[in-house]
Amino acid sequence: MKLEPTICAVIGYPLKHSLSPLIHNAAFSKLGLNYMYKSIEIQDTKAATRKMLEENIKGYSVTIPHKESIIQQLNEVEPIAEKIGAINTVINENRVLKGYNTDYSAAIKSIEDVIDIKNKRAAILGAGGAARAIAYGLKLAAVSTIIQNRTIEKAKVLAEELNCDFSEINSELLKDCDLIINTTSVGMYPDIDNSIIENIPENCTVCDIVYNPLETKFLKIARRKGCKIINGKGMFLYQAVEQFKLFTGKEAPKEIMEKVLLEGLK
Ligand code: ATR
Repeated sequence: MKLEPTICAVIGYPLKHSLSPLIHNAAFSKLGLNYMYKSIEIQDTKAATRKMLEENIKGYSVTIPHKESIIQQLNEVEPIAEKIGAINTVINENRVLKGYNTDYSAAIKSIEDVIDIKNKRAAILGAGGAARAIAYGLKLAAVSTIIQNRTIEKAKVLAEELNCDFSEINSELLKDCDLIINTTSVGMYPDIDNSIIENIPENCTVCDIVYNPLETKFLKIARRKGCKIINGKGMFLYQAVEQFKLFTGKEAPKEIMEKVLLEGLK
């Protein structure tokens, strides 16, 4: 008799463009695990956690707009995720719902694949959930940071938590930065003709967390300026690799996940 598969899912609203089912299902099947990963488009985090308990769902990937609001529905949150104020993973451990954040370490890992961030100066463009995760990651790596945001009050709140600099979006203040990271959704499909800034300094590394398209307008401008560029693929992949480990207790087959991700992005 075939046993029922263990269920995991991505929750968010809207969810049309998520590639999480593709990469997690490829990883489960690569390791021969009796797991199935679904997509659950849901607006209410309370309903989502109730569903998790009722249907004995093992793990959730949590995406926009639930990363912050779902915290109040959980029984436990790992300390770093609590500090960041956002989670992207929920694990149902014998009906105890635990929240984790795998975004912050994924972002730092994908940047460190390209440059050594020690003693660098970084700028984070944006001050939302993704910016919070990356800002904490940079803080842990002792990188001096300025947070720039359209709404300056939000930049100020985050900067004060982290004891770093802040401003409105201002390319003049980016001239002393070695690394500039876009964490806003500007440039994400279908907004592909826009860039959060156009005046990108030369000789720096430019990173975009957007992975659809892989090369955003922001990265195109940076490439033309001769900057090193880092697209959003690495961060998306690494956060899923860490998540897979939380879902299954096993090391993720990263190569197959990367392969199907690249195919899915074509
Ligand atoms: P996420 O959790 O994905 O980071 P979020 O919390 O909604 O999403 O944050 C979105 C970020 O993108 C914010 O910093 C937002 O700026 P505001 O705080 O001023 O709203 C930024 N953002 C979104 N659209 C933008 C735009 N068109 N121009 C500049 N910043 C934008």
